[in-house]
Amino acid sequence: MIPLTINGKRHQADVSPDVPLLWVLRDHLHLTGTKFGCGEGLCGACTVHIDGKAEFSCQVAVGDVGERKITTIEGIAEDHPVKQAWIAEEVSQCGYCQPGQIMRAAALLAEHPDPGDAEIDAGMDPNLCRCGTYPRIRKAIRRAAGKAGRGGAA
Ligand code: FES
Ligand code: FES
Repeated sequence: MIPLTINGKRHQADVSPDVPLLWVLRDHLHLTGTKFGCGEGLCGACTVHIDGKAEFSCQVAVGDVGERKITTIEGIAEDHPVKQAWIAEEVSQCGYCQPGQIMRAAALLAEHPDPGDAEIDAGMDPNLCRCGTYPRIRKAIRRAAGKAGRGGAA
């Protein structure tokens, strides 16, 4: 059994330590908000936070997580400024990439509370969107920064 702390709760995963975290989240713990895209660290659909940093969960062996805290899209409050901004800017198209985009954006804002366009583009670069929602993602991040009262342009 591998102990994990996910969204503030302790879990035990009955899997081999080399199984990717993404598989454990979706197939064993039924936290299906985190999406499988490429499985190869190329798309960002599987992005979660590990100790607050955005990581590709398809590239992390569950046995390497240790005591670090995992947050998935289910662990982001509905009134979180990023989720609220995503709704206000109607960012989603097909929606598939969006949980990963929101996780990446939340981690970016935690590190850079008032990001400029260049910081947003660089910070969000690992996460792809086949529907091309990038302009709305940028707007939503600026809105979320403003809502959090940190001076970003809405
Ligand atoms: S599914 Fe993990 S980066 Fe694509
Ligand atoms: S909204 Fe469809 S892939 Fe991003």
